Amino acid sequence: MSSSAPRPLVAGNWKMNGQFALLAEAAKLRQAIQAQPPACDVLICPPATLLAALAAASAGYALAVGGQDCHAKAAGAHTGDIAAEMLADAGATFVITGHSERRADHAETDAVVCAKAQAAHRAGLVAIVCVGETIGQRKAGDTLAVVAAQVAGSVPDGALAANTVLAYEPVWAIGSGLTPTAADVATVHSALRAQLVARFGVAGGAMRLLYGGSVKPSNARELLAVPHVNGALVGGASLNADDFLGIIAAYQP
Ligand code: PGA
Repeated sequence: MSSSAPRPLVAGNWKMNGQFALLAEAAKLRQAIQAQPPACDVLICPPATLLAALAAASAGYALAVGGQDCHAKAAGAHTGDIAAEMLADAGATFVITGHSERRADHAETDAVVCAKAQAAHRAGLVAIVCVGETIGQRKAGDTLAVVAAQVAGSVPDGALAANTVLAYEPVWAIGSGLTPTAADVATVHSALRAQLVARFGVAGGAMRLLYGGSVKPSNARELLAVPHVNGALVGGASLNADDFLGIIAAYQP
């Protein structure tokens, strides 16, 4: 395992929220980041309609832009879908794959998520592969088995620390205001780290592991201090620049 912790990543997922007016929050974010360079990488994944505009406005700033999903294929007759290559062309450097809302709303299996992560790699994007248990699975004591199976099936062979980020997002914690305890997050993240190291060696030790699910300024310091938590995937709190900056500030000394 690598001896130094990877540089953290705080990623915002705007989901299906925001029209052009919301880009004002990103402008606020850019100004704050420029005034005080953060001790982490910062990413916003806006709706596809805003991606090119956000990427153009953010060029030259320490603010990366990503997609929320991509198709596995590079082009073709797939109405409504977006290829990883198109995201890259629009200025994205990341893409989220296998978010639990995609898995639930679009019946995405681990194999589909894996193909999308491969597409991200093919297009030169960093894939943020999401895993996480439902409340029923947690109550049944199956959390570790569920996320291990999701990682095994969703993270492509040959994944590198430079092109793959893993996000642990308990489904019941997303948008609910509920979070696991720091001890629970530590248990899952150390199991994920061991699994990645066993499969990918040094690369598995250097891959960033994010926690996601109701991260807010008030709980960010505690959650982000957990061993093997190398950043956050943030939904609701990323829609407001001040809240998102409050989470980024958890990495300031
Ligand atoms: P939340 O969403 O921060 O609103 O809970 C997290 C996510 O779905 O990535």
